[in-house]
Amino acid sequence: MLYVGIDLGTSAVKMLLMQTNGKIEKIVSREYPLIFPHSGWSEQKPEDWWDAVQSGLVELLDGCDKSQVAGISFGGQMHGLVILDAEDNVIRPAILWNDGRTTKETDYLNEVIGKDKLSRYTANIAFAGFTAPKILWVKNNEPENFAKIAKIMLPKDYIAYMLSGTFCTDVSDASGMLLFDVEHKCWSKEMMEICDVKESQLAQIFESYEVVGNLKPELATKFGLSDQVKIIAGAGDNAAAAVGTGTVGDGRCNISLGTSGTIFISSEKFGVDKFNALHSFAHADGHYHLMGCMLSAASCNKWWMEEIINTKDFAGEQKGIEKLGENEVFFLPYLMGERSPINDPLARSCFLGMSMNTTRTDMTQAILEGVAFAIRDSLEVARSLGIKIERSKICGGGAKSPLWKKMIANILNIKIDVIESEEGPGYGGAILAAVGCGEYASVEEAAEKLVKVVDTVEPEAELVEKYEKQYRKFKKIYPALKEVFHYND
Ligand code: XUL
Repeated sequence: MLYVGIDLGTSAVKMLLMQTNGKIEKIVSREYPLIFPHSGWSEQKPEDWWDAVQSGLVELLDGCDKSQVAGISFGGQMHGLVILDAEDNVIRPAILWNDGRTTKETDYLNEVIGKDKLSRYTANIAFAGFTAPKILWVKNNEPENFAKIAKIMLPKDYIAYMLSGTFCTDVSDASGMLLFDVEHKCWSKEMMEICDVKESQLAQIFESYEVVGNLKPELATKFGLSDQVKIIAGAGDNAAAAVGTGTVGDGRCNISLGTSGTIFISSEKFGVDKFNALHSFAHADGHYHLMGCMLSAASCNKWWMEEIINTKDFAGEQKGIEKLGENEVFFLPYLMGERSPINDPLARSCFLGMSMNTTRTDMTQAILEGVAFAIRDSLEVARSLGIKIERSKICGGGAKSPLWKKMIANILNIKIDVIESEEGPGYGGAILAAVGCGEYASVEEAAEKLVKVVDTVEPEAELVEKYEKQYRKFKKIYPALKEVFHYND
């Protein structure tokens, strides 16, 4: 049989076709615009996602035996607020996970309602990118839009709705809304009241591997598929990527170097970081996970390459980087503010330490290192909780760079296991589809059988020591500059 995994990302949707044995038959992608209406704001049109998914599916399925397609599932950018009116029209562009406009609403939730209560109700505190503060922002700033809301959705759930007609979400993605009681896997009555939301406006909750419905008959005809094709709930992109890299069960780690950068730790038991610096979310394997998320990871490098130095030759630009652990230039990777662990939407990026000797190569190196240092910040929170991480899988666009993987291994001082397919969320989505269609008994069994480690990047003692010194320096930069970022407060 064949399974479709749809990774609804921030810069593009990537779709892949997977055979039952895990082999990827084809991958297609479609880009769509990302709109920054103001500094720190980030929006996309759900209609653009849907157009891209439809045209991408046509190309993906072209030439394959369509009668073999059994299921479709997703990994989707998390936290985005999609609102529909009573006629299912999209009310306004989606407000995305990396949007920082909700400072006031986030402060209200954390300080007036209080972090203790939020953590008790949802296992998490408010971060600017989470969905609940955005609902409050719409209520406070666009009351006419707020009054029209009939359905509140997450990005991939909009696509599942368009494909199946079922108003659904899954436990991993729902976890990032701050409306969901993560431990008990149900909507939080208290949070609904705080956000002035009714349960009828929220989706039906599924485990990530559960079937939510069949492909709508008119779409089945359009794509040449059977109307028995199953739509499976899918997961937030990080949980889906974890499935796609075999980061399931207990105590496993995955690092994603996509637009965002995340460190994801799977856990069989529910648990909350006592400082709430890491997110405590449900996992797509039926269990739980902890996660640190930086808002700009591979996107820092993309911005530098495409917007500033005007090149698309990512590999070529990294060729001259040789003096690892000795760079005098540092980069703070906070182009969209930062979430984990500093939780500061007003933080911004900067280069530091430049001299007349500084080269473009040093600056490219500083970007890659700055992202790795910021991922280490979240790893340090996990370490402070007593979690031991000796190795991690890696995925996302940035994971294509051998140099970046080497930096991560040495800056974090852990082994990096490289897997056969770096298509994290899309591959995870296809695996969830296969599980939902009964091909495998559980997500863990499927991941065990399908995900293969092909190489390991080992940290090197000398480089680890050099980078340890560099990291200590990096750690001092943000606290020294925080006042500058908050100058107009
Ligand atoms: C996770 C997060 C990001 C997005 C990126 O909390 O906000 O990783 O899911 O798509």
